[in-house]
Amino acid sequence: MKALILSGGKGTRLRPITYTGAKQLVPVMNKPILWFGIENLVSAGIDQIGIVISPETGAEVRQRTGLGDQFGARITYILQDKPSGLAHAVQVARPFLQDDAFIMYLGDNLIQDNLNSFIHEFQQNDLDASILLKPVVNPQSFGVAKLAADGQVIQLIEKPQIPPSNLALVGIYLFSPTIHGAIAKIKPSSRGELEITDAIQQLIDDGKTVKASQLAGWWLDTGKKDDLLEANRLLLDTCFQPPSTEIEAIHSQIKGRVQVGQGTTIIHSVIRGPVIIGRDCHIENSFIGSYSSISDGVRLLDTEIDHSVVLQSACIEGIHHRIVDSVIGQRAHLRTNPRRPKASQFLIGDDSQIELV
Ligand code: TTP
Repeated sequence: MKALILSGGKGTRLRPITYTGAKQLVPVMNKPILWFGIENLVSAGIDQIGIVISPETGAEVRQRTGLGDQFGARITYILQDKPSGLAHAVQVARPFLQDDAFIMYLGDNLIQDNLNSFIHEFQQNDLDASILLKPVVNPQSFGVAKLAADGQVIQLIEKPQIPPSNLALVGIYLFSPTIHGAIAKIKPSSRGELEITDAIQQLIDDGKTVKASQLAGWWLDTGKKDDLLEANRLLLDTCFQPPSTEIEAIHSQIKGRVQVGQGTTIIHSVIRGPVIIGRDCHIENSFIGSYSSISDGVRLLDTEIDHSVVLQSACIEGIHHRIVDSVIGQRAHLRTNPRRPKASQFLIGDDSQIELV
């Protein structure tokens, strides 16, 4: 079995972060989201992985992720010239997929479960497709499945006003090569995309066997800021095991689970874990609260920050109220002008969201 990870798309919901970088490379627990998916696939025994990339962010995804040696996989990159939908991405990947069965994994999704049992069930039962589902409280916002008593999928409905169930489609699907015939039959949707839900519905309408399995653990689609912060919190809560080596810090208090990368200096600061801090950071007169991930090269001076993700080489200085629930982009600068401490001056990128309280 092969894997196809979708790492193209527009990423509009995570602007402005996605103006300058791929959303699948945004880190949670200081690791690109995409890499969690690769690791999950490899641990399920899949080592031939195709990654669909876009012209805008493909080079960065390829350069950061490489050819797979670090994961124990062989990675092939597949360029999708425009984000014309998930089923379009499968069409573009056909030369890589050939007539093999494959698992399709959306590169901005994170799940807790490992994939072994789903793959095993798909193979044992010789299914045409298998979808993963998760009960949600707001099915109106998702693709939703209607199931028969035996678990066969009867219908998939995108964002239904009156949902037939609370079972949302998780961004992970298993397909036999019959999916290619189904994709060839469908037309672009009203938003102009070739939808994978339409292709699966086509399989159902053609009498193929499409079954569903439910995820037991958590699932997050990290395409929006709050989901990204929640993913960061969950991972720091459940999977974070910092090495037990002592952390060097000057006149500072470090409590709980904290990891600090090489070359980072911590002076007169309080850090309350779980917190992960990358390499070559400078933290001075600052407080870093639980569930924060600080990437490499970040500078925090006279700053209080809590439950936030700070990307590479960002710099925050002298902000005298606590920063919470925030995502700060690469190389962003936030500082108080000591000569005008009560005034705010901004140079803010397009589509930025700032809430002053
Ligand atoms: P989405 O999050 O549904 O779409 P998007 O990336 O365009 O984001 P937004 O809605 O914020 O504009 O995509 C799910 C995943 O699939 C994501 O990792 C991007 C990827 N994708 C492709 O690779 N090709 C595509 O044509 C589309 C639509 C998405």
